[in-house]
Amino acid sequence: MTPEKSKPNGFKGKNLLVADDDQTILNLFRMIFEREGCRVVMATNGQAAVEEIKHNPIDVAILDIRMPVMGGLEALKEIKKYDPTISVLIVTGYADMEDLREAIQTQGAVDYILKPFNVADITHTVRTALLKREASLQRLSVGRALQEKIHEREREFAERTLQLRESQIKYRQIIENSNDMILVLQGERIHFANPKTMELTGYSEAELSQIPSSELIDPGDRAMVEGMDAGISAGKVPSLTSSFRMRRKNGESFWVEANTIRTQWEERPAILKFIRDISARKKAEEELQRAYEELKEMQGKLIQSEKMAALGRFSAGITHEIKNPLSIIIGGTDFLSRKLRDADEDTHKALKKIKEAALRADSILMGLLKFSRPSKLTVEPIDPVDLVQETLSLLQYRAPFQNIRIVTDFPAEPMQIRADKAQLQQVLLNLFLNAQEAMGEEGQITVRVYGERKSLPHGGKPACIIEVIDSGMGISPENLPKVFEPFFTTKRDMKGTGLGLSISKMIVDHHGGSMTLQSETGKGTKVQIILPWEEGGMA
Ligand SMILES: Nc1ncnc2c1ncn2[C@@H]1O[C@H](COP(=O)(O)OP(=O)(O)OP(=O)(O)O)[C@@H](O)[C@H]1O
Ligand SMILES: [Mg+2]
Repeated sequence: MTPEKSKPNGFKGKNLLVADDDQTILNLFRMIFEREGCRVVMATNGQAAVEEIKHNPIDVAILDIRMPVMGGLEALKEIKKYDPTISVLIVTGYADMEDLREAIQTQGAVDYILKPFNVADITHTVRTALLKREASLQRLSVGRALQEKIHEREREFAERTLQLRESQIKYRQIIENSNDMILVLQGERIHFANPKTMELTGYSEAELSQIPSSELIDPGDRAMVEGMDAGISAGKVPSLTSSFRMRRKNGESFWVEANTIRTQWEERPAILKFIRDISARKKAEEELQRAYEELKEMQGKLIQSEKMAALGRFSAGITHEIKNPLSIIIGGTDFLSRKLRDADEDTHKALKKIKEAALRADSILMGLLKFSRPSKLTVEPIDPVDLVQETLSLLQYRAPFQNIRIVTDFPAEPMQIRADKAQLQQVLLNLFLNAQEAMGEEGQITVRVYGERKSLPHGGKPACIIEVIDSGMGISPENLPKVFEPFFTTKRDMKGTGLGLSISKMIVDHHGGSMTLQSETGKGTKVQIILPWEEGGMA
């Protein structure tokens, strides 16, 4: 024989009737109360419940408010007519206050059980209903005066129950209709989650009671959230507001802002979270930031193109004025060299210097002319790989390129673009010279050619990309924004004009393409030429 529990639990040997049209709910009640030692009779509607009452001794009847054939409130009336000492509990998910008043004050129901269920709450309510049933039975055997007193007490009790349930319903309505997620957690267990939580995370209520709470947090933010929750649980801080990413059942992340406070659940410390979905706000913020950056970039480009235009207008005006005197100087030095054939070495050196300086000035003028009258493009279908190879062959035998390794990476399939071959060749020459000048006599130039069908400027249209990558000294962060400016050069002593990149960029722009440059001091530089690649441009 098993020894009896030292403290009676109030349930042993009692008879319960549960009426509900939902088999899972019937099973849930049976499981809870058979474990406590009760006998549980089940019915699937109100009428069946009333029948069972007539054939079984029942202490407490638990009736769902909505059932087919006969609902809980009607069954309550019938049961009370048959035996007023039976305690009746009404189960409902959508308690409306009027029904509640009617059932408890007028029809003599003991209490309500609210859905969704909480096992501790159910056991407590049923235990009270059993005590009430005992009291009702005892009342039958006492005198009239005492019966009146008991009746008085019962009315007070009913009133208090009603107040309690009313406030419970009010809070529940707030929680269930809240636009924020509300969660009660104890360690990794999720004890409570409101409907908004299910809606936003995609988990059902049953799933939420099974998974660890960390599943709801984006893996990248888990450590931070766990740390904060631990601080709150330990009582180090009373409450905290924080932003982090949560994770839906389908793996998607979304930004939230949470207010976490310490609370109690079944007499043990727990935490309560109010969580707001702020993904829309975050997205708007990010878009704003992006728009701002685009605007800044656009502004920079506008300033740049305005500068170029001004330079063009300016050069058009002065080049002719200077070009004539320059040719006189160059022609003059040639004439003097011949005339003074017998002069001393110093005179010849001086003449040579004058001629060099004049030629340099002339080449700057030629560059300037390119801005003032950008030559018309003569476009034809060309293969970018051929273009690169031809340009490389021009450099091959020039002294500074002798010890430079040239690595090429070309597409397997031939490509075709429509471009001005001579002008693009000039662009490539400029880039190869810059690369060599950044490296000195040794280093590596990598040239890549490839096609890209998406994720690039020009609204994601197909593009042909030519990359020139060097292992040179790179460009300092202060100089990087200036390299496309006309006349910006760090090579004055090497006779650089600072026009190479700006003219190259202008040529690529005229082709409807764009040019970008990335560089890191000491590591090297990568220049990308992005040219439109017409659909079907594949030969
Ligand atoms: N590959 C590169 N590596 C390091 N710096 C570079 C590179 N390409 C350009 N630069 C920097 O950008 C500046 C401007 O280049 P750009 O080609 O316009 O003129 P330049 O080379 O100085 O003169 P020019 O091309 O007329 O001989 C250079 O002076 C250099 O500081
Ligand atoms: Mg250059």
